[in-house]
Amino acid sequence: MKVLMVCLGNICRSPLAEGILKSKVDTTKILVESAGKAGYHIGKAPDPRSINVAKEYGIDISSQICRKFIVSDFDFFDIIYAMDKSNYGNIIDLARNKGDAQKVKLILNEIGSSDKEVPDPYYDAEDGFEHVFQMIDQACDSIAKRLENKKP
Ligand code: 4NP
Repeated sequence: MKVLMVCLGNICRSPLAEGILKSKVDTTKILVESAGKAGYHIGKAPDPRSINVAKEYGIDISSQICRKFIVSDFDFFDIIYAMDKSNYGNIIDLARNKGDAQKVKLILNEIGSSDKEVPDPYYDAEDGFEHVFQMIDQACDSIAKRLENKKP
């Protein structure tokens, strides 16, 4: 099973989602990566505020490297989680067929928060990152349980 977390910049939310989900699953069986729609920060480490909040919960995301979503990600990954509706729309716009589009989900739908979004914390203070961490952490609990129950 291969899971891709997507946000806009791939430096705040999706690196957290990658690190958090990795901390909850058997990473020898489940591959988790992240990517962004925009290319502003390609090659850079996550935002220091994301690195710090993850560190507070014992998760090290400092060695992740920002990359842009590419169409062939639809071929490689089984599930693509978007952090907000704009990210969702951006990725759906790149889908080549129904199969591609069906792989894309809003991450908070995993916890029954239908159509809710993980807010973009880029222009927030540190507490915005704590809030985002908690939302993603809850969603990843549910995703991890669902993945554990899936047959290989
Ligand atoms: P992210 O946050 O999508 O959660 O990584 C952002 C990071 C950078 C920018 C926007 C959002 N930016 O405009 O540079």
